[in-house]
Amino acid sequence: MLPELPEPRHGDGYRIALVCLGNICRSPMADVVLEHRVGEAGLADRVRVASCGTGGWHVGRPMDDRAAATLTAAGYDATRHRAQQLAGGWLEEFDLLLAMDRQNLADVQLHATADTQHRVRLFRDFDPVGPGSEVPDPYYGGGAGFEEVLTMVERTSAAIVAALQQRVPRWWDLS
Ligand code: 4NP
Repeated sequence: MLPELPEPRHGDGYRIALVCLGNICRSPMADVVLEHRVGEAGLADRVRVASCGTGGWHVGRPMDDRAAATLTAAGYDATRHRAQQLAGGWLEEFDLLLAMDRQNLADVQLHATADTQHRVRLFRDFDPVGPGSEVPDPYYGGGAGFEEVLTMVERTSAAIVAALQQRVPRWWDLS
């Protein structure tokens, strides 16, 4: 069963943030793929996707060349990403914050309050294969790690979009 999506807090749409350590490998890949799938599903007017890192080393830079090459080879646009760093305001702005691994999850939870705690989850809680697992950090490895991340991210994004397709029409009374 898919985890429930926390209720939206803003009138204009649902806001999802993807969080990793550097915001140059895993969460940018998830950001690009999820945004692409949201567009294909016709939900772009109602669902916004963004990403950030818990660390600030790469702020303002494009994503890692290997992440970009993996996305480009699979037909995605990797050119628009610029790295951002997580700050407390993200917990107020976003309806759902999805962390790539357990350390990222713990770091996001440091910014959460009793009111926002339920909005912070592992990205792969939505993965039908291995829910609750981590997206392994490919930064220090070879190209195969980026392919593995893409496979996880495509599968999990499809499941998130399926959940959104059920709920968005109900939340905004569209039909
Ligand atoms: P990411 O990978 O968290 O998937 O973006 C990393 C990128 C950079 C670093 C670590 C992980 N770094 O230490 O600079």
